[in-house]
Amino acid sequence: MKKLFLFLFLLSSTLVCGQVVRQNLSVSTENTVMVFSVTESDELIYRYYGNKLQNLDAFSYELQRTPHQPLPVAYPSFGGIASIIPALKLTHADGVMISELKFSEISTTAVDANVTETVIRMKDRCYDIDVVLHFKAYLKEDVIAQYVTISHREKGNIKVENLASGYLNLHADHYYLTHFAGAWADEMGWQEELLTRGVKSIESIKGVRTAQTENPSFLISVDGKAEEYAGDVYAGALAWSSNYKLSFQLSESGCLDVVAGMNPFASTLTIEPGREIKTPEMIWSYSHNGKNRISQNFHSWSRRYALAHGDDLRPIVLNSWEGVYMKFDEQAILSLIDDAAEYGVEMFVLDDGWFGGKYPRDKADSGLGDWMVNKRKLPHGIGYLADYAVKKGIRFGLWIEPEMVNPRSELAEKHPEWIVKTGKYTPYLERNQWLLDLSNPEVQRFVEKTFDDVVAMSPNISYIKWDANRHANNVGSSYLPVEKQSHFWYEYTQGLYSVYEKLRNKYPDLIIQLCSSGGGRVDYGALKYHDEFWASDNTNAVNRIYIQYGTSHFFPAIAIGSHISSSPNHQTGMPLPLKFRVDVAMSGRLGMELQPQDIKGKDIVFVKRAVETYKEVRSVIQHGDLFRLKSPYDSTDWASLMYVSSVQNKAVYFVYSLGYHNRHQFYTEKLKGLSPDKRYKVTEINKGNKSASSAAGKVFMGEYLMNVGIQLNLSKPYESAVLLLEEVE
Ligand code: GLA
Repeated sequence: MKKLFLFLFLLSSTLVCGQVVRQNLSVSTENTVMVFSVTESDELIYRYYGNKLQNLDAFSYELQRTPHQPLPVAYPSFGGIASIIPALKLTHADGVMISELKFSEISTTAVDANVTETVIRMKDRCYDIDVVLHFKAYLKEDVIAQYVTISHREKGNIKVENLASGYLNLHADHYYLTHFAGAWADEMGWQEELLTRGVKSIESIKGVRTAQTENPSFLISVDGKAEEYAGDVYAGALAWSSNYKLSFQLSESGCLDVVAGMNPFASTLTIEPGREIKTPEMIWSYSHNGKNRISQNFHSWSRRYALAHGDDLRPIVLNSWEGVYMKFDEQAILSLIDDAAEYGVEMFVLDDGWFGGKYPRDKADSGLGDWMVNKRKLPHGIGYLADYAVKKGIRFGLWIEPEMVNPRSELAEKHPEWIVKTGKYTPYLERNQWLLDLSNPEVQRFVEKTFDDVVAMSPNISYIKWDANRHANNVGSSYLPVEKQSHFWYEYTQGLYSVYEKLRNKYPDLIIQLCSSGGGRVDYGALKYHDEFWASDNTNAVNRIYIQYGTSHFFPAIAIGSHISSSPNHQTGMPLPLKFRVDVAMSGRLGMELQPQDIKGKDIVFVKRAVETYKEVRSVIQHGDLFRLKSPYDSTDWASLMYVSSVQNKAVYFVYSLGYHNRHQFYTEKLKGLSPDKRYKVTEINKGNKSASSAAGKVFMGEYLMNVGIQLNLSKPYESAVLLLEEVE
């Protein structure tokens, strides 16, 4: 008898059951497609994401599965025999914790010639719940943005404990995860690892500066490490400026399940009947030709759809922070404006320290929240400075940090109930400041009014740097009801986005920089309301090479504020040659972050010339396609990259030496992205004391530059070169 049971058990575990496919659904871009199948029992099965296929008929063959290894569904919920992390976990009004989603209908609409929207509706088998998967496919850019909505008509409230934005199921022998970890002044550090059995997650529960220690983006390369120009690479970036969790589960099936979305930690959402909850968007892209293509997809998508003014060129900025910090008077600012104009800079930005009434903002411990001009420092006000800048032929911008408050401020005295805190616990200070509770509509109105009042100080304010210099911890809201304290993260972020949205609509022409102690809030949720971001408070050019390398994987050069700073550097104490500092800054959105008076002698001419040169080449850097050449993480002590215009008639190549290379080794680099048949004249720009390449002044065919390469005459640490390539007849 025992033997019979054992036999039956073994038989059942190897038994393969068939599932008839009723319908195949797909979401496609120019070169990629995501495929789902609906079975005869209305399950929505995840089938494929990869290269575009001519014909999807083969997906209609019967699906095979063993009873213990269910087929991957398009949106896994907690329940059934599935053992992966669920994308959906909720508790129904009656306390039942299981959901079973069934396909209901699909509709696809063309939003315009480049964007299609596919909506797949699912219903729970037993409860009146709608879960809707939304996919926006950006055809030319090979990007698919996915989000999910949920609503219900149960008799009471349901509790949503996890609601992911997206799910992927991959099948390969090996999976390599690339992610971008960091810290303050050390953001976006590139890391790659082989995924092994179990769950790896990238996440944040810090609130506000959630991208500081890990960016909510990743690459998965299958069957080998991610290469720049070869191999299958999947990419995802979560457009969410709060706690997130991206989980990668390698199970016994050998499949990799990727579940990505808001972090469920301490974030249960209680949803009333009739109310709909929408997740942030998960932005997917796939490339059959390595990760450089992924970056190009993200760059062109963001310039077109996910950044303010992505088609414009960005002005060159002088930001006052590292030049004067908070120690300045009117004369000091006027002379910074004079110098900015003298150097050919196009925008002067007055950073922190210009405000405060009873508690002047002379140090980081006071005045935050009191957005009136400090008349002691600036007796004629902001309008006077902005007008002065305009008279000098440049534009004017201002720093604000409207979500925050110092305990030493009139705002904290007047509105203690607006501060994020919980119970009898004292709110925890970071950088001497507290967080304002943006889940509260009154606080949202305050932030909007602060912005309005600041911008109203002068019609000549054309740039705002919006900073946020702390995390959200010990959270709690005196606005949210007791049973909704766990909504804090969600409601704060929705409050922030609704403020951004209103201000963006009201001030469509303003340039707004996203800053959060540097790159603490670099994500596509916040970025769509901004023109650019401050990638890091670390302005040391060597560290910037690494930071900007990591950043370049998902974010375009047009958005990466990259400033020439002092030597020795203020954060690291490291001295660096001016040319190296300028050459690095020029590879992003160029600016200056120093006291211009500290530039002396022939360096003045060098910087002025570099600023003018940048204006000539910036359209290639800001709108062109990026080609990463040498990674700074490579052991060779070189870093290099280039940008090529879309019609391949111009390119700018940057190369940096990060170590000593003996004089017998001439670094040779094979360029990328040029047209093989075109002839290019090579010109060295930002030329230093010696010529960096014998190629300068000569004409080469694109095929030569890409196959044989270009030779550089660099050997010492922190030497660098910038070469311009222009098509000639
Ligand atoms: C943050 C920003 C800096 C500067 C200071 C001002 O650290 O990242 O660029 O604006 O705040 O306090």
